[in-house]
Amino acid sequence: MLRMAISFLPWKWQCFLCFVLLIFSCYCEGQDSSLSPMKNKEKEIIYSVIQGFVGNWWNGSYLYPDPCGMTPIEGVSCEQYDDGFWHVTAVNFGPVFDNFLMCNHDAQFPQQIFNLKHLRVLSLSSCFLSPTQNPAKLPISNWEKFSHSLESLTLRSNPGLVGTIPFGIGSLSKLQSLVLLENGLTGELPPSIGNFIKLRQLVLAGNCLVGEIPANYGRLSELLIFDASRNNLSGVLPSTLGLLDSLLKLDLSNNMLEGELPREIGRLKNLTLLDISHNKLRGGLAKTLKELVSLKHLVLSNNPIGGDLLGIRWQNFQSIEALDLSNTSLEGSVPETMATMKRLRFLDLSNNNLSGSLSRSLEKLPCLRALHVNGNNLRGRLEFSETFYMKMGMRFAAWNNANLCYIAKPRNQMPYGIKPCVQNITISEGVSTVKRSEGNYDDSFIVASLGGSSFYALCWVFTVNVVINVFLWNMLF
Ligand SMILES: *[C@@H]1O[C@H](CO)[C@@H](O)[C@H](O)[C@H]1NC(C)=O
Ligand SMILES: *[C@@H]1O[C@H](CO)[C@@H](O)[C@H](O)[C@H]1NC(C)=O
Ligand SMILES: *[C@@H]1O[C@H](CO)[C@@H](O)[C@H](O)[C@H]1NC(C)=O
Ligand SMILES: *[C@@H]1O[C@H](CO)[C@@H](O)[C@H](O)[C@H]1NC(C)=O
Ligand SMILES: *[C@@H]1O[C@H](CO)[C@@H](O)[C@H](O)[C@H]1NC(C)=O
Ligand SMILES: *[C@@H]1O[C@H](CO)[C@@H](O)[C@H](O)[C@H]1NC(C)=O
Repeated sequence: MLRMAISFLPWKWQCFLCFVLLIFSCYCEGQDSSLSPMKNKEKEIIYSVIQGFVGNWWNGSYLYPDPCGMTPIEGVSCEQYDDGFWHVTAVNFGPVFDNFLMCNHDAQFPQQIFNLKHLRVLSLSSCFLSPTQNPAKLPISNWEKFSHSLESLTLRSNPGLVGTIPFGIGSLSKLQSLVLLENGLTGELPPSIGNFIKLRQLVLAGNCLVGEIPANYGRLSELLIFDASRNNLSGVLPSTLGLLDSLLKLDLSNNMLEGELPREIGRLKNLTLLDISHNKLRGGLAKTLKELVSLKHLVLSNNPIGGDLLGIRWQNFQSIEALDLSNTSLEGSVPETMATMKRLRFLDLSNNNLSGSLSRSLEKLPCLRALHVNGNNLRGRLEFSETFYMKMGMRFAAWNNANLCYIAKPRNQMPYGIKPCVQNITISEGVSTVKRSEGNYDDSFIVASLGGSSFYALCWVFTVNVVINVFLWNMLF
């Protein structure tokens, strides 16, 4: 009715009316929430929970008489449920908000919190700070009280949060995000985490966790991020990791993991980040990597992986931006197909035992900003252009390759730490003859480095002769 009536009015009036109605409705809603019926019992619970963190001096009922309405508490969110009451749905504690409440030096995890029956999000950061003066532990029991509500649990930067991850945490069947980042947690990864079939994010990094990664974590088929880096995890990687179909990021760096990279990891078609650096993995690269075609970041540095770069179809990796295989005991040559990874920005092959020469074609990678091949056994002449050396500067690292040299031209930008290729010149009896010796290489190497074509080799020798003759001519006269 009202709408019909309005539609007969001129449009300016329509706009004005809409505006008035809008303001009015906002005002009404504001009034609604200020009434915010909240059960007194729940008010007492949230007050005592916060007192548990900040200390008993905090007078919630005085400062925040209506925590879900007119006097909201920083970091506490509420929602109205079907029962007509407002309930606390989120508690975010820590220096994320402007007027955040500081945890007291003797803060403990308040048991009262389990009585917030509608809590969906619990986040505590920088709360428990001292493992010696005030170690706090996660409660062992009562987690099942959250089993139908809690979706996100974050405990971050709490060095004073020690002890194990309680097994009972496995009853949080609705959990979508579990972040236990940079705390003092010890003990093993609870297998019960494998029950969180809705989990999308599992971050356990930066604790002191030990033992193996439970095989049943393979059940987390909706997991997007798995980060257990910077712990002391050991044993082999379970092949069930290959069942984490949805996974985008897998970071297990800085642990004591050993054995081979399971072949099944190759199934993770959507994986964009794989970082298992600083572990004790062995067994070569080829089998696993060839199917991980979505990868943008592949970091396997500081593992005694061994093997070579030859068995991999590098041309399949058209998304890769950063490839770090430094200090992985690689042998053999650097295949020219590595120059087909068009998005590559960072390539680190340093501190291996790579041999052979370095293909000039790497220069053609349009995005390349850093190329590290230092500390290998590479040999031969670097044939990159001056522009390349200029663009890269120190980000082209090729030092510590005893048999690598570059062609010196006066006033050229020089690759750092590489010696120029030696060109010995002897003059005999008025007729200039040139005797070349390129460091330790013989002519057969030069031919090889020019693609095995003796025609080019001949051209090259001819050019060198001409250049050196002109040079001598200038010197003599
Ligand atoms: C909190 O404030 C109320 C009202 O001012 C007062 O009655 C109560 O004693 C105070 N409680 C504490 C613990 O200070
Ligand atoms: C890591 O665990 C191993 C046993 O698996 C132990 O010997 C070592 O001391 C631990 N390292 C740290 C830093 O906790
Ligand atoms: C992989 O990513 C694609 C595109 O983003 C998506 O359609 C597909 O469902 C993902 N696969 C899995 C197993 O999550
Ligand atoms: C190279 O990796 C090994 C582990 O394979 C590690 O022990 C060593 O410290 C690393 N070397 C450097 C220079 O980082
Ligand atoms: C490096 O590889 C060569 C063979 O190419 C081998 O003779 C040498 O022992 C290797 N060095 C190391 C440190 O593994
Ligand atoms: C020629 O090169 C070799 C090896 O680099 C060097 O030992 C020798 O002294 C050089 N000879 C002359 C005449 O420069």
